[in-house]
Amino acid sequence: MDDRGERLKERVALEAAKMVRNGTIVGLGTGSTVAPAIAELGRRVREEGLKIIGIPTSYQAAMLAQANGITARTLDDVSKIDIAIDGADEVDPDKNLIKGRGAAHTREKIVDSWAELFVVVVDDSKLVEHLGEKFPVPVEVLPFAVHPVTKTLQAMGGDPELRMGVKKDGPVITDQGNMIIDVRFAEIKDPKALEARLNNIPGVVENGLFVGLAHLVLVGTADEGGKSIVRRID
Ligand code: 5RP
Repeated sequence: MDDRGERLKERVALEAAKMVRNGTIVGLGTGSTVAPAIAELGRRVREEGLKIIGIPTSYQAAMLAQANGITARTLDDVSKIDIAIDGADEVDPDKNLIKGRGAAHTREKIVDSWAELFVVVVDDSKLVEHLGEKFPVPVEVLPFAVHPVTKTLQAMGGDPELRMGVKKDGPVITDQGNMIIDVRFAEIKDPKALEARLNNIPGVVENGLFVGLAHLVLVGTADEGGKSIVRRID
């Protein structure tokens, strides 16, 4: 990502961190856009005495929470989530998302869907007219079921590919010990129907289509003068 992209991520992350109020339970998403938001929450904890409990969506988020001095708990310890802040790979005009480039979408969907306010943080490169334009749909699958699920995805007209590790030989293994199949579809006409259909395949744990979950999208973009600004999609 170039400097512009980094600047926009930072800008939008700070805006989201400002929305977090004292005494709240905060879902901590995964990825490079939410990382500076977690860092900013840590700064507010240390310097402003902000009291929050973080619910991390991945090992990455848990490690960032710890490094930044944010108390982290699991879903077993809380009865609600006030606000979740998370990134996305694609955002359509109805605030539907593709997530899961970081293979964390299963826990993210649980946490984000449970939040009273789910805030998505992206830079403007993530905006699309139709989901699937740039990114495949990540599908988390039990290792035992990779072969039959791949066949079923092909029969559905998808182009599935087992995600391979970087700096690791063999497939990516998720925080839950499963594998990821990235599926490209020529066209996703009905994301809600596809989300349900994918999750109905035996062996599928969760897919990266987030339909009707986001309440607010904060988009880092630049004005005509090149100044970084945040646009809201309510
Ligand atoms: C991880 C995710 C991320 O939130 C998504 O991939 C966006 O990441 P980034 O902000 O680094 O572009 O879904 O599973």
